[in-house]
Amino acid sequence: MCGIVGYIGTKNCVPILLEGLKRLEYRGYDSAGIGIINSTECKVIKTKGKVSELEKLVNKENTVSSLGIGHTRWATHGEPSILNAHPHVNEDHTLFLIHNGIIENYASLKKGLQSQGYKFVSETDTEVLAHLIDRYLKLKNNLFQAVRYALNEVEGTYGIAVIYKNEPDKIIAAKKGSPLVIGVGKNENFIASDVNALIAHTSQVVYLEDGEIAEIFQDHFHAKTIADESIIKEIHEVDMSVDEITKGGYPHYMLKEIMEQSESLYNSMRGRLLLKEGISKLGGLQGYEDRIANSERIIISACGTSWHAGLVGEYMLEQYTGIPVEVEYASEFRYRHPVITPKDTVIFISQSGETADTLAAMKEAKKKGALCLGVCNVVGSSIARESQTGVYIHAGPEIGVASTKAFTSQLLVLALITLLIARRKNLNLPDGQEIIQELQTLTSKVETILKLNDVIEKIAGQYVNSKNFLYLGRGYNFPVALEGALKLKEISYIHAEGYPAAEMKHGPIALIDDNMPVVFIAMKDSVYEKVVSNIEEVKARKGRIIAIVNEDDNQIDKLVDHVIRIPKTIQMLQPILSVIPLQLLAYHIAVKKGLNVDQPRNLAKSVTVE
Ligand code: M6R
Repeated sequence: MCGIVGYIGTKNCVPILLEGLKRLEYRGYDSAGIGIINSTECKVIKTKGKVSELEKLVNKENTVSSLGIGHTRWATHGEPSILNAHPHVNEDHTLFLIHNGIIENYASLKKGLQSQGYKFVSETDTEVLAHLIDRYLKLKNNLFQAVRYALNEVEGTYGIAVIYKNEPDKIIAAKKGSPLVIGVGKNENFIASDVNALIAHTSQVVYLEDGEIAEIFQDHFHAKTIADESIIKEIHEVDMSVDEITKGGYPHYMLKEIMEQSESLYNSMRGRLLLKEGISKLGGLQGYEDRIANSERIIISACGTSWHAGLVGEYMLEQYTGIPVEVEYASEFRYRHPVITPKDTVIFISQSGETADTLAAMKEAKKKGALCLGVCNVVGSSIARESQTGVYIHAGPEIGVASTKAFTSQLLVLALITLLIARRKNLNLPDGQEIIQELQTLTSKVETILKLNDVIEKIAGQYVNSKNFLYLGRGYNFPVALEGALKLKEISYIHAEGYPAAEMKHGPIALIDDNMPVVFIAMKDSVYEKVVSNIEEVKARKGRIIAIVNEDDNQIDKLVDHVIRIPKTIQMLQPILSVIPLQLLAYHIAVKKGLNVDQPRNLAKSVTVE
């Protein structure tokens, strides 16, 4: 999604803006631009395509300024083009605006402005806001108030930064539904849509909340609500280093993040396992344990990969706690008038903590009195802040658009929540201890799987030209099949579908011929024999089979084309291991196709629009 960065201070902002934009590239974008204001000029430089292209243009101009804003745009209104790229400007080129989000009533605002003589050059909703602010500037002669008045007319979502030639000592920033954070430095301040963009300069940050607007100067800032009430903002210390957001010698973030999973899983469970008591310790849930355990129902709501984690969570929670669980796409949940009561606990899972649909679903559940529990990776993200209680997954920054280590850490945290609640219900001490002992063996088992990287790369080589893939699994491994298919389609652009293995005979079996690769997740669990029968059915129709099996399996290799053997663990935790070969398979197929795995086309890392 779009990215925002801004600087006001004593240094030249140009390299700072470019570096910030590069750190936001992972979010997905299709054009980029910067706007600077200094004592002699107001300049906007924009390009379609990558920040590296923008950098070439900027370098030709030799621009220096201590006030500037930069943006990466992910097209919503109007195609990716220089005209549609941000910053957008007022008619006399003295006011620059960058915007994340969507102005829903832009068409009626535009009509009103056109009737007053305003001319538009782009197809964007953002340009409307630039002119609207300009109109109020003419009335109020004060940038802060002009932005505030303009925003009061806006319906929709925004994270914005505005600079103005006649008030060159400030950046105005405001937020509603799109993340925005102020970076507090020494004699310099920053604004960004994501802390990654400013972490190289400061670890002191201030999160703007919805309906807040800030006036940011070189050496101080203050904030108000859009309704003009003063507010005091707290400064937070971010615990993240620049090393964590670089590739660390790997060719892609995605591979780095797959390879990091032993460490990220360790971090997700560190300090949270109490072996003697056979229980997990989750500080974020303290005081809410009984309310969760006594819930009449647990609903899990999320999108994409996080939704797949939710499906595994459903199996875990129902098996061990006996509480009925429903899993909902956040995008459906928010609009279908769901029946939610104060006796429900709703778990919202989101890596970024900024997904617009998930955030809106949370607001809906909160309104209806349910307990909202956030499971997020990004500390201080909107979902983490809006939920009443929650657990961070502590997977570390995930930059690759395809979620990998966040998924396995989400599963791990769901297992910890399950254990905590189950021990308050019927799970006895030895069974709780067994789960903890299994959790403690996970990281070494992950390392064993990661050593299969070369084997999986060779298998991948045989499927680069495939047009379709089927992924089949049962029980706990059905959501893994969905996740394997999603990973492949999003980075390799190969059509892939995940199904419960037994559903194959109700339709997808018609697709099987000698061109159809079928990936089976066939673990030695309660449904193993049934999955073997499904493998036989595919074999009989000459499908090409890749099977993920347990190390001690000696039944399946006769039936399939490729076997990937992975260590065994208890059923609840098996998805954490069985998904890793699927992540590697998708990665290698995409790389062999020459595709940009970290920034796949049309995708964004955090989807902050509906
Ligand atoms: O940040 P979130 O976990 O809320 O994101 C949800 C989805 O947008 C995300 O999982 C998406 O499906 C990924 N690209 C999957 O790899």
